[in-house]
Amino acid sequence: ARLVVLVSGSGTNLQALLDAIGDDPEGYGAQVVAVGADRPGIAGLERAERAGLPTFVCRVREHATREEWDEALTAATAAHRPDLVVSAGFMKIVGKRFLAEFGGRVVNTHPALLPSFPGAHGVRDALAYGVKVTGCTVHFVDDGVDTGPIIAQGVVEVTEEDTPEGEAALHERIKEVERTLLVEAVGRLARDGYRIEGRKVHLGHVGE
Ligand code: GRF
Repeated sequence: ARLVVLVSGSGTNLQALLDAIGDDPEGYGAQVVAVGADRPGIAGLERAERAGLPTFVCRVREHATREEWDEALTAATAAHRPDLVVSAGFMKIVGKRFLAEFGGRVVNTHPALLPSFPGAHGVRDALAYGVKVTGCTVHFVDDGVDTGPIIAQGVVEVTEEDTPEGEAALHERIKEVERTLLVEAVGRLARDGYRIEGRKVHLGHVGE
């Protein structure tokens, strides 16, 4: 399967995919064909360049409207003919045009146990709420914010040492679980196929 990965930051989830694929895309069942971002100059793009991958940047502020940005992101992504789009720390909400083109084939990873704590501050919100466990969720993107059908989840304990100031430390612990969860989920979707029925994701040989 051809993957386009969208990033906005450090790109450690992207790196985990690249490391898992290594020199055996056949074995993994997928290869990253391009990396897109909503801003330049981020480590995620450097990781892509180090891997010799094509990259593209679509900045919201370079477009007169959000819809035009969405169009541009869709075109830039479609140019690489992805079978799956992986949003790995991409911090923009894709629009109607993008979902019309890639709906059912966009996978997102979120650093909280959805449906709890959706949105851009999942780690901070879970800490503030005082949860005893949190974690991460790999899910398909639908027209809501972090509301699509869930593919996989991983749990991370929250301890007494996890103070609100320690959001970054907790997020790092979540990211350790998240990277493994994403690599395994994407590999299975790519190798075994899947079918989405309402909120349920059926993994495995499609059409049997
Ligand atoms: C990940 O935890 C992702 O879930 C969240 O931001 C982080 C991105 O990390 N949206 P990276 O850019 O993959 O290192």
